[in-house]
Amino acid sequence: MLAQELIARKRDGAELTPDELVEFLGAYGAGHVPDYQMSAFLMAVLLNGLSATELGTFTRAIIDSGRRLSFARDGGPPAVDKHSTGGVGDKVSLVLAPLLAEYGLRVPMMSGRGLGHTGGTVDKLESIPGFRTDLDLAEFQSVLADVGCAMIRQTPAIAPLDGRLYALRDVTATVPSIPLISASIVSKKVAEGIEALVLDVKYGSGAFMRDPEQAVLLAETLVDLAESEGVRATALLTAMEQPLGQAVGNALEVREALQCLSGEGPADLREVTIALAVETVLLAVPGAARPAVQSELEEMLDDGSALARFGRLVERQGGDPAVVGQSDVLPTAPLAATWESPAEGFVTGADAYQIGMAAVELGAGRRRLEDDVDPAVGIELLLRCGDPVRRGQAVARIHARSREAADRAIERLRKAYRFGDEPHEAIPLVWRRVPEREPGVAL
Ligand code: URA
Repeated sequence: MLAQELIARKRDGAELTPDELVEFLGAYGAGHVPDYQMSAFLMAVLLNGLSATELGTFTRAIIDSGRRLSFARDGGPPAVDKHSTGGVGDKVSLVLAPLLAEYGLRVPMMSGRGLGHTGGTVDKLESIPGFRTDLDLAEFQSVLADVGCAMIRQTPAIAPLDGRLYALRDVTATVPSIPLISASIVSKKVAEGIEALVLDVKYGSGAFMRDPEQAVLLAETLVDLAESEGVRATALLTAMEQPLGQAVGNALEVREALQCLSGEGPADLREVTIALAVETVLLAVPGAARPAVQSELEEMLDDGSALARFGRLVERQGGDPAVVGQSDVLPTAPLAATWESPAEGFVTGADAYQIGMAAVELGAGRRRLEDDVDPAVGIELLLRCGDPVRRGQAVARIHARSREAADRAIERLRKAYRFGDEPHEAIPLVWRRVPEREPGVAL
């Protein structure tokens, strides 16, 4: 195989054979194909796509680059997971994993760090003093057995090729590709050994797929690919036009997730979390009825049992369990500044991309994979789309290390917020489900 010939064929729209793809990816994994050739190949894929056969081969090659866990035949509860395509203020996983464990499912969750304008579950968890996301496989399985859920960062043991390809895509403008995103997500989830997967496919300004129709296509591709690898899957298309909830920034988001786990906090966070949790249960538990599942899950948030489960998870992964109690052990920033409304009327837009970048300006996110994040800084959105506003009213509270950083974030917030005389029509929070039919119901 000559790498440049294979790249040229993909560039010209040809379909590669499974042998060619496996050899090329294997050679990259072994260090025989350099990053610059893989980058050119990824751009050719972004421009020309992959056929269904190519996508399956590509995904399996990533799965086969590491270990494949298996829970299917050990007699325990169904192993399930949820994956989001990435957003701003998206702390759903922190609530959903303990909630599903409390319901009786097993949740071996491997998450990512924040990248670009999007936040990452791993960064949020690591803002809890002592919390370890770098468990080895034995520790991961032991926490899972004890608590019913375990939350770790990507490990070299599971789909290591995805970690390398994702880092390369991030710096070569090749992230927003339906086949590349699908292969990246499905490969890690299949390798986790789960039976059922729910995908939170974001659409809107803060999503990788901003265009709703493209997001639907991504959802369909993800579901088909997961199913073809033997994992039952459903996708929900959920809005990422403005951030989810009011908190953006790691420790701030943990606080908000704790509120949701206590039956409080923003309504949109609870709605999306419950919607995804219900879909997961329906996929994993044959015969489960939607209304009953929904009220049981709601009850587990309201009666504190999901919160207690989160406390057990924190403790088992080395974190300070006091985080779930009255004492606030989470880090706080030295400076809190407010940004006030320059206008009167209604908030008609709070662009999730710009708000995500405002958080990056503060240090809550990273520009490059190797950057550190500041767990304490971030933004509280005091007003969101549809809210009435008076001139001079506080719109956002900025938690910063310095006045300069706060001012840079405020510059972004000026670009993010729009004001008008009429409340605008909000896009649906939970818009569509893929497939449209209920799991287990024949067409
Ligand atoms: N999340 C992933 O895990 N991979 C992608 O390519 C995009 C979002």
